[in-house]
Amino acid sequence: MIRKDIVALSAYQVADSRGMIKLDAMENPYPMPKALHEGWQQMLAATEIHRYPDADMATLRQEIAALDGLQADQVLLGNGSDELIQMILMACDSGACAIPTPTFVMYQLVSRWLRRPVVTLALDENFTLDPQKLLETSGREKAAVIFLACPNNPTGNMWPLETVRTIAQTFKGLVVIDEAYRPFADRTHTELIAPNVLILRTFSKMGWAGLRLGYALGDADTIAQLNKVRLPYNINTLTQHSAHLLLRHRDLFAKQCQRIVEERDRMIDRLAAIDGVTPFPSQANFVLVRVADAERMFAHLKAEGILVKNLHQAGTVLANCLRLTVGTPEENDALISAIEGDAP
Ligand SMILES: Cc1ncc(COP(=O)(O)O)c(C=O)c1O
Repeated sequence: MIRKDIVALSAYQVADSRGMIKLDAMENPYPMPKALHEGWQQMLAATEIHRYPDADMATLRQEIAALDGLQADQVLLGNGSDELIQMILMACDSGACAIPTPTFVMYQLVSRWLRRPVVTLALDENFTLDPQKLLETSGREKAAVIFLACPNNPTGNMWPLETVRTIAQTFKGLVVIDEAYRPFADRTHTELIAPNVLILRTFSKMGWAGLRLGYALGDADTIAQLNKVRLPYNINTLTQHSAHLLLRHRDLFAKQCQRIVEERDRMIDRLAAIDGVTPFPSQANFVLVRVADAERMFAHLKAEGILVKNLHQAGTVLANCLRLTVGTPEENDALISAIEGDAP
């Protein structure tokens, strides 16, 4: 009845975080200011849901395109950027999906659902990506698509611009530059957009994780092709209306992201001062750290009521690594004190 390879999979697990300081999922820790929250609720209360949503979303796409000086027909909207990853993997030529590892798990997971082979290039212990090796591997294994998370999740580093440019301008298949962490990073890659080069973004990390809204930026014809595998009405009415309203207040969210960046840098300094703890550089809203014993540290933090992501099981370069989402200053102080309490 169900494909054997699907039966063999486990469903995506989300840890139970009830009652805990939640630093495992790269969310913005700051709620909406009260006045904006009230205005938003009033708008929602006046929203009708007995009709299907706006299917084309031309105005919303126009508003989003304008943020990067692009046109509405260069924007494709997804129910989170996860859905866009799925659309891309459904629509692109047959052939493998090539990725550096470790990277964001959905590229591999969705490829498996769609029976698309996955080709991986392991990063070295400094998380360096060799563009020539990735191109060689992709060519040899006949890859159709390369996903590059910039910055990368879970390592937090940004590949050098030259690395991204070389891959984008040399590979003949589709290159997806995933900028999920754009609000916290030094640069974007929109200048690399080409018929075979797409940029992925999300509003999740900026503060709207619960709305589920992501977007792809690309060449108008490529976007039009991908749009053919978009489910009708994939963005619900409440999300669409919320996005219109909240985009008008984007400076407020940008300020929150700036505070997160400052907190991230403060956390890295404080973590570096703890014996036996090595934080890695980050351009995202999380910090990857290596500790003496990640399993023990994870359990200790959990017992202290703090949930982070344990990456130890993920394999060699992530041995004894934890991914710490940047929270509020109070949450980060609690986290750092708890880490100090368990450091050797
Ligand atoms: C690199 C990367 N891309 C995409 C996503 C998915 O974001 P969303 O589906 O919330 O838009 C994530 C989430 O953690 C991510 O780390």
